[in-house]
Amino acid sequence: MANVVVVGAQWGDEGKGKIVDWLSHRADLVARFQGGHNAGHTLVVDGTTYKLSLLPSGVVRGKTSLIGNGVVIDPWAFAKELERLKGQGVKPTPETLVIAENAALILPVHRDLDELRESRDDGMTIGTTRRGIGPAYEDKVGRRAIRVIDLADEEFLTNRVNDLLHHHNALRRGYGREEYDPAELVAALMEIAPSILPFVGPVWKKLDQAVRCDQKILFEGAQGVWLDVDHGTYPYVTSSNTVAGQAAAGSGVGPRDLSFVLGIAKAYTTRVGEGPFPTELSDDIGHKLGERGNEFGTVTGRQRRCGWFDAVMVKQAVTTTGIDGVALTKLDVLDGFTELKVCVGYKLGGKRIRRFPVSRVDQEALQPVYETFEGWDGSTKGARSWADLPANAVKYVRRIEELIGCQVSLLSTSPEREDVILMKDPFRGR
Ligand code: GDP
Ligand code: IMO
Ligand code: MG
Repeated sequence: MANVVVVGAQWGDEGKGKIVDWLSHRADLVARFQGGHNAGHTLVVDGTTYKLSLLPSGVVRGKTSLIGNGVVIDPWAFAKELERLKGQGVKPTPETLVIAENAALILPVHRDLDELRESRDDGMTIGTTRRGIGPAYEDKVGRRAIRVIDLADEEFLTNRVNDLLHHHNALRRGYGREEYDPAELVAALMEIAPSILPFVGPVWKKLDQAVRCDQKILFEGAQGVWLDVDHGTYPYVTSSNTVAGQAAAGSGVGPRDLSFVLGIAKAYTTRVGEGPFPTELSDDIGHKLGERGNEFGTVTGRQRRCGWFDAVMVKQAVTTTGIDGVALTKLDVLDGFTELKVCVGYKLGGKRIRRFPVSRVDQEALQPVYETFEGWDGSTKGARSWADLPANAVKYVRRIEELIGCQVSLLSTSPEREDVILMKDPFRGR
């Protein structure tokens, strides 16, 4: 049996939460390995909606859930999410939910800095979720971060906070903002510490035990390959590596324990925030996709930008993250369109190219080249077998497989947990 890594193949919000929840039925453990509460993963179970940001989607089924060292953790957001889920009857315990001791914290200084940078009016913003994700990762790499385990020792924590604020207060002075008082921050951290410390433990060891016992691990990625800090549309990206390789570094397993990478792709494309988007539709069709797909962000409520499926980008994601099979989601949103388009290449300066260029200037100048498809009569909504799909919907999926050079392992046809068509079980391996 294989361990499965789930990653988004576009710009996030591909439906990872639904697919992870569906697959977690077959898994023993579910682990997050990057990102933080910038993620918004929605699950619908028998009409009840669960929204997860920091906690792995496996918590809803009561699976052992791990938050790896690669995740950045806002302890206040963690406590709030836990409370909210308890209200819905989901009650993780320190036995079923473990947070890595060596994960870095997101603090109010990070949120403030994210907010300050994003409030510029010179058109140079990223359109972040303003959760402090970027600044927290900056401090981690800058070796100034407060880590989860530091909350267990007030004296050590005080030293770390002094070091951190030495840096941040200089920045705040530059921005003309009031400085942070180290004693106040330490007091606030000591107050929240009891909410998080009971859940803290060696995640790498839990995973090692699971591997040795031949248990099945599901690694839940956040964001998507095109938001990866290296492989994405830099600088319009998040501040972590979102590619599947990060599942190993961000949780403490070796790469040989990642046996199948499942890339999640929407049957069209969306993006939240700024940045290039070659197939974006600002017309009625884009509007219709947004309405039918209910494309509003889970985290910020922002309207998502919509456009046609971009086979060039997904194909490139298949390569850069190493996708073994794709879960194609939201096919039902395309019901009722008379005509559909898929981007199969770009024109740049009169030349045809088949890869997404790195230069931002080139990215903005790309003209998509489309292949046109006839839409389908009838509905795919809620379909649970191939036989239920209209012939043109099958053609659309088969052509996407050809264009991206990768098999569709799963197809999702509604937000509901069980509305999935399984072609190839990722837990059976490549
Ligand atoms: P994630 O961030 O990748 O987990 O995706 P989000 O949860 O942010 O966004 C996906 C949205 O689409 C959620 O509201 C899901 O409930 C919904 N969804 C997932 N799969 C399907 C599907 O196959 N069809 C439809 N119509 N909605 C879906
Ligand atoms: P899930 O896991 C879609 C986007 C933000 C912004 C950029 C940087 O639900 O797919 P950040 O706050 O991370 O510094 O913002 O990344 N972004 C997402 N877009 N889905 C997400 O997560 C996202 N997480 C961050 O909109 O453009
Ligand atoms: Mg989301």
